[in-house]
Amino acid sequence: MRNYHVAVLAGDGIGPEVLAEGKKVLEAVSRLDGCFQVAFTDFPWGCEYYLKTGEMMPEDGLDVLRDFDAVYLGAVGYPGVPDHISLGGLLLQIRRGFDEYINLRPVKLLRGAPCPLQGVNREDIDMIVVRENSEGEYANVGARLYPGTPQEIALQTGVFSRKGTERVIRYAYELAKKEGKTLTSISKGNALGYSMVFWDEIFAEVGREYPEVETHSLLVDAASMFFVKDPKRFQVVVTSNLFGDILTDLGAAIAGGMGLAAGANLNPEKKFPSMFEPIHGSAPDIAGKGLANPLAAIWSVSQMLDFWGEEAWGRKVLQAIEALLAKKSALTPDLGGSAKTHEVGAALIRELEAL
Ligand code: NAD
Ligand code: IPM
Ligand code: MN
Repeated sequence: MRNYHVAVLAGDGIGPEVLAEGKKVLEAVSRLDGCFQVAFTDFPWGCEYYLKTGEMMPEDGLDVLRDFDAVYLGAVGYPGVPDHISLGGLLLQIRRGFDEYINLRPVKLLRGAPCPLQGVNREDIDMIVVRENSEGEYANVGARLYPGTPQEIALQTGVFSRKGTERVIRYAYELAKKEGKTLTSISKGNALGYSMVFWDEIFAEVGREYPEVETHSLLVDAASMFFVKDPKRFQVVVTSNLFGDILTDLGAAIAGGMGLAAGANLNPEKKFPSMFEPIHGSAPDIAGKGLANPLAAIWSVSQMLDFWGEEAWGRKVLQAIEALLAKKSALTPDLGGSAKTHEVGAALIRELEAL
């Protein structure tokens, strides 16, 4: 029997609502498989915890999580706690502290998912964004000088190390090579003459080791335009932390919406646990009403299964999502339905059982 122990950080807003369904799906998968078991440990960390204790997680939080096989995260951030404190004290701590330097975000239009673009076929939107996840614009190096005076200055420095840039680009080349896909690097060397020129140089340098991979380089502004006008030109995409953040919300918009967008924060060496999450936030506007779409959180379960080497189940979870979308019988309002969050989870498990 294979055993997986998952640390659950449901977090804030709709986080607990969508994770409850993802946990049920993972339990159903282990029951249907019969050869592996999943155990969950829930942690109450998040904004409510902060309001009680003054911290988003205990000081030894990373040590507590270190030996788990995965972290499953809902969403972090809620009105009442400044976002840079809540996110800086939990989600970003984990990504950096566990060296989860790869953020894998599929932008794939599943059969039955709505797409706002005209003249686009389903197969035209099928990319995987490899986002740098440990440094870059998110390194949080900077200063506030002369606060409250007319001379006030805010500095925020991007940090692009050779190691950090090279490893994410190399990961993307390996992925493109393995899957026989093209690789597009998205940067901004025309304006960011240090960091992004460096990025482009490393992209070319590492590329010399992968002559079989067809490559493209785009500036992020043009790339955003092409995400909308011609998404089929993208297969594997590699980009920096901030650009990847923005482009994957755009990616979500063209591939079914925020309720369908998942992301895996990977430490490929498995020295530390990896973390799986929907890419959306805590959605305070719909929290507590049963309106949240759990499919993004469920898709991230599929990514977790893939990462554990249970790819057959990863694929089946995705197939079940697609079957549900095609039937349109149990979908939340963001996808045009009237089902509650928990009804979507239950219907998804029925699809899994029927596969
Ligand atoms: P958001 O992703 O929470 O919401 C944006 C819009 O998408 C809202 O209208 C929301 O209702 C909708 N939406 C999001 N997820 C949905 C779902 N599963 N089903 C249906 N609709 C969904 O982004 P925001 O409003 O900019 O941020 C809210 C809070 O979440 C902020 O505190 C922000 O910092 C935080 N945040 C956290 C994460 C994370 O934990 N990974 C990601 C993004 C934002
Ligand atoms: C995401 C989120 C986070 C990010 C925020 C909440 C810090 O937007 O996971 O996409 O920018 O990485
Ligand atoms: Mn984001």
